Amino acid sequence: MKYGYFDDQKREYVITDPKTPVKWINYVGSLAFGGIVDHTGGALICRGDPALNRITKYIPQLPSSGFKGETLYLRFKQGDRYRVFSPYFVPTLDPYDLYECHVGLGYTRIVSKFYGIRTEVTVFVPLGDSRLISDIQITNVSDHPMHIDAIPVVEYTHPDALKQFTNADWVPQTMQSKAYPDEAGMIILAQYPFMYKETRVNYFASNRRVSSFESDRRRFLRDNECGTWANPLSLQEEELSNYEALRGDNIAALLHHLGTIRPGETTKLITQLGQTESIENALPAITHYRDTEQVEQALREMSAFWDSYLSRLQIETPDASMNSMLNIHNPRQCHTTKNWSRYVSLYQLGLGARGIGFRDSSQDVMGILVHMSQQGKELIRQLLHVQKRDGSAMHQFNPLTMIANEGDSRDLPDTPKYYADDHLWIILAITAYLKETEDFAFLKEVIPYYEKGKDGHPIEFQVLDHMQRAIEFTTHNVGAHGLPLLGFADWNDTVNLRAGAESLFVANLCGTALLEMMELAQHLGDTEALARYASSYETMKQRVNQCAWDGEWYVRYFDADGSPLGSRSNPQGQIYANGQSWPVISGFAPADRARTALESVYRRLNTPNGIKLSTPGYNAFDPAKGGITTYPPGVKENGGIFLHANPWVVIAETILGNGDRAFEYYKQLNPAAKNDRIDEFECEPYAYPQNILGDEHPQFGLARNSWLTGTASWTYQAATQHILGIIPTYAGLRINPCIPSKWDGFKATRVFRNATYRIEVRNPDHVCKGIKSVKVDGKAIGDNAVAIVGDGKAHLVEVIMG
Ligand code: NOJ
Repeated sequence: MKYGYFDDQKREYVITDPKTPVKWINYVGSLAFGGIVDHTGGALICRGDPALNRITKYIPQLPSSGFKGETLYLRFKQGDRYRVFSPYFVPTLDPYDLYECHVGLGYTRIVSKFYGIRTEVTVFVPLGDSRLISDIQITNVSDHPMHIDAIPVVEYTHPDALKQFTNADWVPQTMQSKAYPDEAGMIILAQYPFMYKETRVNYFASNRRVSSFESDRRRFLRDNECGTWANPLSLQEEELSNYEALRGDNIAALLHHLGTIRPGETTKLITQLGQTESIENALPAITHYRDTEQVEQALREMSAFWDSYLSRLQIETPDASMNSMLNIHNPRQCHTTKNWSRYVSLYQLGLGARGIGFRDSSQDVMGILVHMSQQGKELIRQLLHVQKRDGSAMHQFNPLTMIANEGDSRDLPDTPKYYADDHLWIILAITAYLKETEDFAFLKEVIPYYEKGKDGHPIEFQVLDHMQRAIEFTTHNVGAHGLPLLGFADWNDTVNLRAGAESLFVANLCGTALLEMMELAQHLGDTEALARYASSYETMKQRVNQCAWDGEWYVRYFDADGSPLGSRSNPQGQIYANGQSWPVISGFAPADRARTALESVYRRLNTPNGIKLSTPGYNAFDPAKGGITTYPPGVKENGGIFLHANPWVVIAETILGNGDRAFEYYKQLNPAAKNDRIDEFECEPYAYPQNILGDEHPQFGLARNSWLTGTASWTYQAATQHILGIIPTYAGLRINPCIPSKWDGFKATRVFRNATYRIEVRNPDHVCKGIKSVKVDGKAIGDNAVAIVGDGKAHLVEVIMG
């Protein structure tokens, strides 16, 4: 526990050393308003869209010691100079007596002690609100009275986040600030680019008298910006200059004289950073949150939200780090990815035309259905709006404008402009939603396709039609082997082959989607559709098995000239993990091939830090293969450990009944279990990263791209539905665990369709899989689907494995 520890009781991770190997962050609020708060108080905040409406200027590429977006300075007189320091450690880097950053659910609380001053700052966005609150409590823990000033500061960006970095003429010429003093002598400092003066105004305010303010960075730092954030020269003056910026780099610094604080005494200050159409409109809410009781109430409401979110599934297994991840951190990360897709993190910077990813969000939805199915439905609806009428999907879209684009395929003019997998994921998301909720009316909801008709009107069809067209796009766009064409890429964004290449992954994903469509058709009693999908399934299965078995594993692609990738005949990229897990998930692989393929994964791809995506890595750039060869061997998709693909192998292993192996794979990925050797891993131990360097790289084990990754959703699904085997089905909840044989059992509480199930699984024979009996409320039931639906009561489900 070099940098911190888990406090499961408080549902926090507590960082105890600010010098973490890289910045460790938390998410506050939602895409509607919120962003990132790092462990030294830096804040990247936006409203509605990080690319088009960003508020604070947070530059992740700056060194960890640098100011980023927001900070708080405190000062007191020492001789004839002020001792100025930040209770967040950064950017002044003073020696501290105590530093703790509590990474909580929806809030970050920094507690520190410098120079006899204890500061506790809780940063959060009240539920559904458009403001970042910092609730600051300052206690004099010295033995003498202290006269303390507090100067909270934010730095603004232009809302068009990319323009901020590409146009250093237009941006600074448009940025302006204006002070609004109110009757109580409390100043609200507003900021806007000129064009948004009357429509979209940022503001920074507090609940105490502001003695003076600064809105221009140059005046704050002084000496023509040879003053620094570590030592802003204006803070050696009694007052700031009260300058309303007419251009330039806009900040908001509010100087408060907190007066004399006696030993043991605590004083409070609340700041609000928000955005509104006009300050006048915002005044009632600003006044509301100036009241400490209202801020505390907002914190209580947020805590109640998380209680209810998490309570829908709680587990108790013999593995403490699994419990910690599944009861707190993993479902929280699923909430984060559902909110932010891959839009904004320290690694995915949300600049330009990035947006919400179609395939990413379709998979993210599956991670939150247990906890907030209605929000899942809303996101599915939004995604269906950017599906094209041929059934394929736009790759990503800006949530504010709903303008979509074709992702990286735009960079290469001669490649196909679609991703072969995007549209298929939405089928998995929709059927998962239906199994969770029974909301079959959703299938009839009419949603337009992305393109408009010739008359400019939307082309609207029912959700079920969207699903059918998604299948048809894949089954109609096949190559020489009858397998789905790759398009620009499939799930693996970085293998970009010539037009005509085929994807085995998409063949299997299509098989899985077909299984879902068959099950749905059966449930809806549509025998014609069932027969149609079953026939497509069999055709695809035959093709995969006829042409893609390589002897010990399945190949991953056929290039346009018919040559395989992911074959032992290739010098590099001989075996791909997704090429093996998905034929098992789709049910295409016969039992012997399934076993052999997964054994090859273990032998060729597994490492103590996770399963590599492929091996060996390509060792030189090859434009005919694409992005994968831009990485050195062992990095990201080129032989790195791409975590997202690991839970698919876990799921495949559970399908074969190998609970010991499945759990070994699950456990080796768990970041919580790496807390004691985090210097190798470097990223947050409380969130899954997207990638870890593979064993071909000298820095094997180093993680990057934490938080926004499909790993969150799929690890959660793999653990809860496949290892613990708590599976929503159309018929009810089904319990079919595949656990480590040494476990005696486990317990879980699951809320499902308005009833609560207390599940107790016992494993007296120490098997991995198999059910001897299931009792519900003491009565034996024939099979293991618990078909009690929505009676609002609690039920005891006792499962004996054997
Ligand atoms: C990152 C993307 O967000 C995800 O959608 C993709 O599947 C992986 N890269 C693998 O290439």
